[in-house]
Amino acid sequence: MAESCYVRVLFLLLLVVTPLPISIASPLKLRLSASESLPLNGGQWFQINNNEDVESASLAVPANAYRAVLEVYLSYHGSDEFWYTYGNPFNGNGPFREVTVRIDGDVVGAVWPFPVIYTGGISPFLWRPISGIGSFNLPSYDIELTPFLGWLLDGEEHELGFAVTDAQDFWYVDGNLHLWLDPRSAATTAGIISYDAPPLEKVTAVASRGPGNEYYQTTAFRRISAAGWVQTSSYGKITATWTQRFSFVNTNQVREDTEQTVNQTTDAYSGVHVTDHAGVAYSQEAEQSFPLYIYQGQVNQTSNDSFTEETSVQLRFEEERVAAGRPGFWSRSLSNAQDSAVDVRVQEGDAVGTSWRAAQTYRYEATDGCYYRDVASQGYGVVSDHADEVCAKGSPAAGRAIAGGAATELGGDAAAAAGVARLSS
Ligand SMILES: *[C@@H]1O[C@H](CO)[C@@H](O)[C@H](O)[C@H]1NC(C)=O
Ligand SMILES: *[C@@H]1O[C@H](CO)[C@@H](O)[C@H](O)[C@H]1NC(C)=O
Ligand SMILES: *[C@@H]1O[C@H](CO)[C@@H](O)[C@H](O)[C@H]1NC(C)=O
Repeated sequence: MAESCYVRVLFLLLLVVTPLPISIASPLKLRLSASESLPLNGGQWFQINNNEDVESASLAVPANAYRAVLEVYLSYHGSDEFWYTYGNPFNGNGPFREVTVRIDGDVVGAVWPFPVIYTGGISPFLWRPISGIGSFNLPSYDIELTPFLGWLLDGEEHELGFAVTDAQDFWYVDGNLHLWLDPRSAATTAGIISYDAPPLEKVTAVASRGPGNEYYQTTAFRRISAAGWVQTSSYGKITATWTQRFSFVNTNQVREDTEQTVNQTTDAYSGVHVTDHAGVAYSQEAEQSFPLYIYQGQVNQTSNDSFTEETSVQLRFEEERVAAGRPGFWSRSLSNAQDSAVDVRVQEGDAVGTSWRAAQTYRYEATDGCYYRDVASQGYGVVSDHADEVCAKGSPAAGRAIAGGAATELGGDAAAAAGVARLSS
């Protein structure tokens, strides 16, 4: 990050300093961007081209920070637009990708991304008229950096870096650093209590049944945890813990060289707990699951050059989130599922017809309200579309969090008083 940019950032921070109650404050925003080193010819992103690339910015955190959250966002392009379709680890680096966030080289958080399929992806028909989940609104991912303030608050600049495991060219990664500043002091002090980030575990199993018949299964796991304290004038001593756990499985089967099936699920857990002298100030846990299934193959073959080329994609974004603490309790559950397919009929080598359909079900249930929508399309036309608010605000159904298929009652007041919200242990 250029010196001039840093000055500008400081200027923004100075403008916005007002007393901020812990955990409900609108944080001050500091935007990090590789492109802000002049000249501005790279777009506003860090570009990552391979597994060895670490792109970073030098950063000096204001001396009175007491909470820091990095909101990461990303997109992938070129050779990695369809990273999840590489089964063979020697072809395209296999199907696993993760973004790691580093402070001075140490991994402090990770993003195992939702596989957004852009509007032309795999077959353009699949996304007309219903576009892929996230393709017009890329998801972002929060990394709690508060436990690491002990490293950052020494008055020196530190390197905040991003890398993409097994990347090919190219990935765009960037983040917003949200900082909370102590209104009653010019400087806080901080220390790290624990930090544990074992290396990524990743295994690929191969079963080759002759040329054109291959099967790969890739699994991966990672966990990261850290705890740290911050001494503030306004809130006393705060202790923050941060935990992430991830698992990933991808199977990729090729049959008779004419058929490929990809079946992948990414599961991610993250939890942050902030306590002060009076108990839990803020706590949030999230569980996400991102299943993806892709089939592409020739079916109903009547001769070598007469068949139907069938492509189908099933994609789901599942998320359960609960929060508790002094600002109150809330829970949110989102299930967003898409199922689309396209058939191209080929006769004597010529494409003679295309038909396609899609369906999407979106179900959001939360303490602040609910929303449901179910849309289906055939060709370019929408054939059904139903929307509803399936549970009214404040109804019992809205206060439920569902984890691992089991419904857990998290009574609003009780959970807030206990200051604990748990999806899993
Ligand atoms: C994908 O694999 C999971 C197990 O990992 C399985 O439960 C699921 O049925 C598979 N999906 C399809 C469409 O075959
Ligand atoms: C394949 O043929 C069967 C029987 O005619 C038909 O029901 C099916 O829809 C066809 N599948 C495709 C993808 O064309
Ligand atoms: C289909 O292709 C196979 C392999 O290329 C070939 O052996 C076979 O003779 C072909 N059949 C026809 C009907 O063209």
